Amino acid sequence: MTKDHLHDVLIIGSGAAGLSLALRLREDLKVAVISKRELEEGSTYYAQGGISAVLDEGDTLSSHVEDTLDAGAGLCDEDIVRLVVEHGPKSIDWLMSNGVHFTRDDSAVSSGGYHLTREGGHSHRRVIHAADATGKEVESTLESQVMSRSNVEIFDYHIAIDLITGSKNGAQKTKRCLGAYILNQKNGKVDTFRARFVILATGGASKVYLYTSNPDVSTGDGIAMAWRAGCRVANMEFIQFHPTCLYHPHSKTFLITEAVRGEGGHLLLPDGSRFMPNFDERAELAPRDIVARAIDHEMKRIGADCLFLDISHKPADFIREHFPTIHKSCLDFGIDITREPIPVVPAAHYTCGGVMTDHQAQTDLPGLYAIGETAYTGLHGANRMASNSLLECLVFAELATEHIHRNVDKIPFPRELPPWDESRVTDSDEEVVVSHNWDELRRFMWDYVGIVRSNKRLERAKRRVELLRREIGEYYGNFRVSNDLLELRNLVDVADLIIRSAQSRRESRGLHYTIDFPYRDDQVQRKATVLIPDNYSPKRKN
Ligand code: FAD
Ligand code: SIN
Repeated sequence: MTKDHLHDVLIIGSGAAGLSLALRLREDLKVAVISKRELEEGSTYYAQGGISAVLDEGDTLSSHVEDTLDAGAGLCDEDIVRLVVEHGPKSIDWLMSNGVHFTRDDSAVSSGGYHLTREGGHSHRRVIHAADATGKEVESTLESQVMSRSNVEIFDYHIAIDLITGSKNGAQKTKRCLGAYILNQKNGKVDTFRARFVILATGGASKVYLYTSNPDVSTGDGIAMAWRAGCRVANMEFIQFHPTCLYHPHSKTFLITEAVRGEGGHLLLPDGSRFMPNFDERAELAPRDIVARAIDHEMKRIGADCLFLDISHKPADFIREHFPTIHKSCLDFGIDITREPIPVVPAAHYTCGGVMTDHQAQTDLPGLYAIGETAYTGLHGANRMASNSLLECLVFAELATEHIHRNVDKIPFPRELPPWDESRVTDSDEEVVVSHNWDELRRFMWDYVGIVRSNKRLERAKRRVELLRREIGEYYGNFRVSNDLLELRNLVDVADLIIRSAQSRRESRGLHYTIDFPYRDDQVQRKATVLIPDNYSPKRKN
């Protein structure tokens, strides 16, 4: 039997964004948190470096703003940058008041006794952290808080398929988001979730690339669902490649935090020489786009499979204390980072673009909000500065909550909605189509839409994505849905958005680099790339 659920607020996603929103909501509101795996699985859990905020007496809000604008290469929305940076210190207080513990340094009087690390693009030490496992500390603390809330119902192993809108089912007069169809992976049934407010907190889309630092859940579901429901999507060409992921045949996606470079680590060629000073005066601490491109350039120039990151010149105790997770994980692969350099390669890491939102995280569809990595707020511009992402999750969860609280009494519960219709589909007889297309998509995105692009490569990718979209669309129309099929359908939609955005940006800026337009063009191109779906209708406020 399929079920019909009714809540005040439906939150899709249980990372830093989704869980902080769940915790901030009034306890008299009935809240559902949906998560497609176990609650903790998402990028948040794997975050290493920390969270940026102005916490040191010697630092200033305007310096954090300036650094963010500089990394964003002319495309940040300055009002949003200011808003987020100003909310930084109290967001960290909020985490601490919920029980998150950060690494202390009693000698650091000017930062209240907390150790602040440095990362690329930051002109000050301003990244608060829990050793090198900040995400684990944040996620598990928020998770235990959410579990103790009686107004929050958790639905793990549930994957959202599509949003339900007013005009789609005819139940409401005006177009509004009314809920979502959600596959319960435990029994294979598709349930209907109705809610007064729906939040997309589904994370990024880096799984669209063959090599990524992200966990398997980062398949861009929120971006694809919002796009299909008529929301505009922006800046999808700006995919951030993290410069340093561990290169090892048995390691799938292990990140080596930028804080290793922040604490003095050097990038080396196989002959042991440094190369970053040749590319940027900030050397290893230049913004990520510059470092990743330099590594890619050097690897191609000398035909190397990887380069090296070395911090072994620092005392072994210092390394073990600051980077316990990396030290242990590398040891498991036979690499002792206190004595030898770490083999590293770049990998897809962060989706700077996403569902367009305003100052309160509202999307184009009344009743629908997007927060965290799935959203495009204007904070990151053409390149996200390290550790600004968890901060964005926290700040927009707060802003969305405030907006919901202001409006909740005006919004009625949606009336009953038609159940999911499975009358015309059967069980799949060829699962291989799904697994083959997953592999093909991720490989051509890596080869043709990666760190260095060209018109020819993008055109090739476009032709392939069109074929795949048709094939996957047909498959989706004929067979019962499964987790892999739903994720593939979303990935192919997101790939299409990335390629179209990259083709429309006829310059190189931030994370988008193309050999056909190698320079930045501030005359014509200094604006966000906004894609508008066919079913877009101009916004009506809540
Ligand atoms: P996530 O934490 O990714 O959570 C997404 C949630 O949505 C998951 O619960 C997932 O199951 C759920 N979901 C997705 N689709 C569906 C669906 N269809 N139905 C139901 N549920 C769904 N940023 C920093 O600021 N500092 C750092 O130090 C840092 N380090 C990082 C290290 C690594 C290895 C990685 C991968 C990222 C790092 N980042 C860092 C980036 C940052 O962690 C993420 O941008 C941030 O955690 C995203 O949080 P989120 O809540 O938006 O999404
Ligand atoms: C890292 O620790 O290097 C990741 C930081 C980030 O992605 O913000």
